[in-house]
Amino acid sequence: MNIFEALYTTRAMRRVKPDPIPQDVQRSILDAAIRAPSGGNAQSWRFLLVDDPAVRGRLGPLYRDALGRLFEGHYKVLREKAEESGDEQTLRVLRSAKHLADHFEGYPLLLFAFTRNDPGGGSIFPSVWSAQLAARAHGVGSALTSVLGIFHKEETFEILGVPGDKGWNLSCMVTFGYPTGRWGVAPRRPVHEVSYRNRWGEPVGFEIPEPLWTPEEMS
Ligand SMILES: Cc1cc2nc3c(=O)[nH]c(=O)nc-3n(C[C@H](O)[C@H](O)[C@H](O)COP(=O)(O)O)c2cc1C
Repeated sequence: MNIFEALYTTRAMRRVKPDPIPQDVQRSILDAAIRAPSGGNAQSWRFLLVDDPAVRGRLGPLYRDALGRLFEGHYKVLREKAEESGDEQTLRVLRSAKHLADHFEGYPLLLFAFTRNDPGGGSIFPSVWSAQLAARAHGVGSALTSVLGIFHKEETFEILGVPGDKGWNLSCMVTFGYPTGRWGVAPRRPVHEVSYRNRWGEPVGFEIPEPLWTPEEMS
């Protein structure tokens, strides 16, 4: 697969089939993840795959509770504003996030990413994104989530048997599954609205109204 196709079409893919992810694909996902850069090449990371329905079954209620807390907290204002202004894109993200929570037990594979001595997460997220790109190359959709580590870290550690006294932090959990729908290019605010040149606020010097890579080029 062309690298730009992977970069442009790897997005939160939350509607997936229950079909298992084959071992060779799992191997490829993790082997891509550990090729990623980390500060000082410290590789202070651990990756934990979950495909046991009993473990998923214990995590599901925690995940739903965590997302519920987010929706009642920070996201409440976001949703109300989006409803008021008719911001359909934000409302779609919220509905999709809720779908993930409601169908948590249906994702065939979960990846938990742990890091330590990495307060900003700068040494773990490149590896997680590499895992998601590798999955995309195999036709597997993924969605990065953070709410379990924020709201239910202790319970999650207990369920997964993670030692609580070794400085590990749960950075995120990624769901994997074969998509029910189609791949598409992620809509985003364009480059010229979020980029400057030489000095904050100064125009970057070009405008890119449409994505430079388009699905017609899909392999
Ligand atoms: C740091 C981070 C945390 C995220 N946490 C969650 C989460 O807890 N639950 C969820 O459903 N999606 C989560 N997401 C996924 C975002 O909602 C998603 O990447 C964004 O809406 C863009 O989606 P798109 O690529 O489909 O356009 C998270 C993404 C990032 C980068």
